[in-house]
Amino acid sequence: MGYIMTESNRSAMVSPLSPVTGEDHTHRMLQLRRQTDPAWVTTVLADFDPFLLDHAACERKASASAMSFVVRYGDRPALLDPLIALAREELEHFHQVYRIIESRGLQLSADTRDPYIHALSEHVRSGRDERLLDRLLMFGVVEARGCERFGLVGKHHTDPELAAFYQDLTVSEARHHGLFLRLAREYFSVKTIEARLDELLDVEAKVVAGLDLRPALH
Ligand SMILES: [Fe+2]
Ligand SMILES: [Fe+2]
Repeated sequence: MGYIMTESNRSAMVSPLSPVTGEDHTHRMLQLRRQTDPAWVTTVLADFDPFLLDHAACERKASASAMSFVVRYGDRPALLDPLIALAREELEHFHQVYRIIESRGLQLSADTRDPYIHALSEHVRSGRDERLLDRLLMFGVVEARGCERFGLVGKHHTDPELAAFYQDLTVSEARHHGLFLRLAREYFSVKTIEARLDELLDVEAKVVAGLDLRPALH
C-alpha cells in the first residue's frame, strides 16, 4: 500500500504561515495525483463566510455517510465500531464549524449538490462487494483531499484561531484517510485494493482539475 499517515510524519504537514505558492507537497504524501491549484486557497480566503457554510455541510454529510455504511453493512462487523466513532467525530466537527458560523452571525444554508462528490460517486460500481470497496476507497481519497485543502487554509489563514482550527482538522482528515484504507483491508486483498485505488486516484485527479474555483471545500 502507499503512504499512510503516522504520528511522526503528521507533524511535517503543519507549517507556519507562509505566502500562497505552489510549493506544497502534502498532496503527494496523501497519494493525491494533482495538487490543489494555489488560486483555490486565495478564492476561499477572499470569501470565507460561504466557505464556512459549505464546510459545515461537508462535515454533516461526512457524518451521515459514515452512518450510511453502518446501516448498509451490518454484516461487516469490522466496519461498524470505527464508522460509528467516525460519524460522531464528523458530527463534532460540524458542531465546531456551526459555532464559528453562529459567532459570525451567519445562518446555515440549504443543501446543495457537491460537484466533486457527485462526479466521484459516478465511478462507484454496483455489486455488493464492488460497491463497498469503491465507497471505502472513494471516501479515503475524499478525506485525503480534505486534509490537503484544510492544510492550505490552516497554513494561510491570517486569524490565528482559525488557522489552528484548520490545522487540527488536517490531522483528523489524515487519520480518516488512513482509517478508510485500513477498513478496506479488512475485507479485500492488498492487490485488489491497490488496483482499484490506482484507478480512483486517476479519476479524482481529473475531477479536481475540472472543478470551478469557488469559496467551497470542492
Ligand atoms: Fe471532519
Ligand atoms: Fe473526515
